Amino acid sequence: MKRLEKQLPTTEARRSRRFFGFGNPFSPCPPCLRGGILLLSLLAVAACGDTTLFDPMERQPKAKPFAANAQFDDGRAMRQPPAGTVPRERQTMRPEITEGKTRDGKVVNEIPVAITLELLETGRTKFDIHCAVCHGLLGDGVSPVATQMSLRPPPNLHKLRDLSPGHVFQVATLGFGLMASYAPELTAQERWAVAAYLEALRRSQSATLAMAPLDVQKKLREEAGQ
Ligand code: HEC
Repeated sequence: MKRLEKQLPTTEARRSRRFFGFGNPFSPCPPCLRGGILLLSLLAVAACGDTTLFDPMERQPKAKPFAANAQFDDGRAMRQPPAGTVPRERQTMRPEITEGKTRDGKVVNEIPVAITLELLETGRTKFDIHCAVCHGLLGDGVSPVATQMSLRPPPNLHKLRDLSPGHVFQVATLGFGLMASYAPELTAQERWAVAAYLEALRRSQSATLAMAPLDVQKKLREEAGQ
């Protein structure tokens, strides 16, 4: 096996030293000029410390994607994952989760991932970012964008008959009519989060007082002067 150290381009470090005029007794640069250059360089580093030009982490020798690398037999820097590797973050073999339908093609009626407060909070964030621009923060189709969509304005999501979580998931995954797919923006888990949040949002818009916790009921009654 060839040794990795051989590849380290120390010439780059040497070049930068020569640039400042250090380490080279025959440098034509007078000392005062050298000091000036050094000062200017330090100021530049301080001003843009994050740039790839000065950041040593960026400049360190490393295997870049698609680059050639003589260390491996196939000459590529990128390695093939072992056969059968499954990405941990991606769901597979569960069409209920990845496609919103069962193996025999029926749309799922229940959210197939764990419904937690965290999921609903993710759903709210993602809905507000990706869906509310058209469907409105309440999902009622009232948004500035909607007023400009004359061809087919985004519908009020509380007025649709079939809005099972599986259907919402499929609409977000595949798109629907004039609406685009949101699969590139949202992972399957996030699309379920949106479906779960929309369910909560829909309930919140037609909730009866009896559905609220007792202390909230009391507070609301007081506010209404009852
Ligand atoms: C660019 C505007 C826009 C955005 C953003 C948008 N939608 Fe829509 N949506 C529409 C329009 C327009 C329709 C009606 C499409 C049609 O009937 O051709 C629609 C329809 C729907 C429907 C109804 C499908 C049915 O059965 O009638 C659902 C559910 C829906 N959107 C959910 C979402 C969700 C969830 C998001 C966020 C991930 C989202 N939309 C983002 C414009 C948008």
